[in-house]
Amino acid sequence: MMSLSLIWGIVIAVCCCLYLLLGMRRRQMGEPPLENGLIPYLGCALQFGANPLEFLRANQRKHGHVFTCRLMGNYVHFITNPLSYHKVLCHGKYFDWKKFHFTASAKAFGHRSIDPSDGNTTDNISKTIIKTLQGDALSSLTEAMMGNLQLVLRPQGSPQTPTPAWVTEGMYSFCYRVMFEAGYLTLFGRDLAGQDAQKALIQNSLDNFKQFDKIFPALVAGFPIHVFKTGHYAREKLTEGLRLQKLRERDHISELVRFLNDTFATLDDTERAKSLLAVLWASQANTIPATFWSLFQMIRNPEAMKAATEEVNKTLENAGQKVSFDGSPVHLNQIQLDNMPVLDSIIKESLRLSSASLNIRTAKEDFTLHLQDGSYNIRKDDIIALYPQLMHLDPEIYPDPLTFKYDRYLDENGKTKTTFYSNGLKLKYYYMPFGSGVTICPGRLFAVQEIKQFLILMLSYFELELVESCVKCPPLDQSRAGLGILPPLHDIEFRYKFKHS
Ligand code: HEM
Ligand SMILES: *[C@@H]1O[C@H](CO)[C@@H](O)[C@H](O)[C@H]1NC(C)=O
Ligand SMILES: *[C@@H]1O[C@H](CO)[C@@H](O)[C@H](O)[C@H]1NC(C)=O
Ligand SMILES: *[C@@H]1O[C@H](CO)[C@@H](O)[C@H](O)[C@H]1NC(C)=O
Ligand SMILES: *[C@@H]1O[C@H](CO)[C@@H](O)[C@H](O)[C@H]1NC(C)=O
Repeated sequence: MMSLSLIWGIVIAVCCCLYLLLGMRRRQMGEPPLENGLIPYLGCALQFGANPLEFLRANQRKHGHVFTCRLMGNYVHFITNPLSYHKVLCHGKYFDWKKFHFTASAKAFGHRSIDPSDGNTTDNISKTIIKTLQGDALSSLTEAMMGNLQLVLRPQGSPQTPTPAWVTEGMYSFCYRVMFEAGYLTLFGRDLAGQDAQKALIQNSLDNFKQFDKIFPALVAGFPIHVFKTGHYAREKLTEGLRLQKLRERDHISELVRFLNDTFATLDDTERAKSLLAVLWASQANTIPATFWSLFQMIRNPEAMKAATEEVNKTLENAGQKVSFDGSPVHLNQIQLDNMPVLDSIIKESLRLSSASLNIRTAKEDFTLHLQDGSYNIRKDDIIALYPQLMHLDPEIYPDPLTFKYDRYLDENGKTKTTFYSNGLKLKYYYMPFGSGVTICPGRLFAVQEIKQFLILMLSYFELELVESCVKCPPLDQSRAGLGILPPLHDIEFRYKFKHS
């Protein structure tokens, strides 16, 4: 009996050794320290998934600024020194960023490859997106958004001024419905069938968007959509709404959507609609929580509220704009919006505290990565990752990092502050909720404008207050870490009432 268990023991030990020898990679000369994790294939994925920030900080303490983790069969090199970020971005010629992005997009939205190198799309997609979200296009988007926000926020139908009454609502659900509706109308145009059809369509899309967005992290992680009945149905319905036939029933469609529609001309109707769904998601999924955090942090901080109100007052006054319900909607141009450093700082500070994005590049070939504090050999197909939340919450760069300070991004003259230091050296990258380099969010300028417009309108049309004036900050929903701005785990009640009755 003894000898039999001994034999089994030896067999198991040999298997384990074989796994360690063949299945696990070993660190070679010049490579960063390696964490294989205990579980084959998954590696450190469970620990990383449970709390990315803590996991990375623990490895930073153990290994220093650069280390490699096995995650879901990939070897991921984390570069955690913010002074090294610009050095990483200098190695662009060794990186492929499209492969990962197009694959993730295909998994989440269910379209076939839209990678031009696979032959089914002809034009240069990123170029089209940048052209239609920035420059001249940005002005018309911003103008449309200002109109649509007021369409949603101002009382409908009744010509006389409304009787002022306090309305209580969850702040997150308020931001969700206002930004979703205004954003949808801005990108995909207004329904020619009129107000009622419009409302019904938006309400449906909103419900479906929530259901679909809920399963989004799982889809990106590789789960098949068939596992999720409600989410799958929601995605089908959202796609339906973006078919050619449906777009024909709308006018004032943005350049972004019209030009992409042309870029996707070689795709069939379903594939094209799925690709437009990707644009809808990108335009809403981060903007909605970002809007919530900006409004919440502002309302909760009396100093922020005061400074913001003053800036809004001044801006409206200089622009000769009057706020009223029956008069013409407020209009501010690009230059007037760009000149609001207090709101900029409030929005930046809110995003600093709520953003958890993962910036990823894949190595096209073996190469050596030269960084601030050393050089490292990288193998083909390995992944290079930045996790900017580590920097956003670094007490050396941002003293008292968990506290919201509305003027953190203002200098002593009340202008935008751009000097932040690590280790005595001025940082080139200190704020990265929108990613960096070639994959930086092409909608970032529009995103900031729309949040700013929302805050301006909230401050000028309404009196605002929290139901519980000293309410605690809701925790961040960590299940979405890596995807962008994290939503709150639960909602916060607030009250609003029209001003100037
Ligand atoms: C606060 C709001 C937003 C945040 C925090 C945000 C953040 C991001 C991030 C982190 C990425 C990926 C960058 C990378 O992979 O390194 C991204 C990509 C993208 N974003 Fe945004 N975004 C926001 C709003 C918007 C808006 C309003 C639009 C469009 C109207 C937009 C359009 C896009 C598109 C099209 C991409 C994909 C670009 C590509 O892969 O070529 N985003 N965004
Ligand atoms: C390109 O389109 C054709 C026809 O729609 C399809 O059969 C093929 O799989 C597509 N190729 C890729 C890479 O998506
Ligand atoms: C698209 O355009 C950008 C900027 O001009 C360029 O860097 C990129 O290589 C182009 N990609 C394709 C597939 O043509
Ligand atoms: C989208 O492209 C098709 C041709 O591929 C065209 O018939 C249709 O009018 C376009 N729709 C929009 C909204 O640009
Ligand atoms: C802003 O303007 C309104 C009236 O236009 C005024 O009642 C309010 O006190 C002003 N607030 C600040 C902070 O200047």
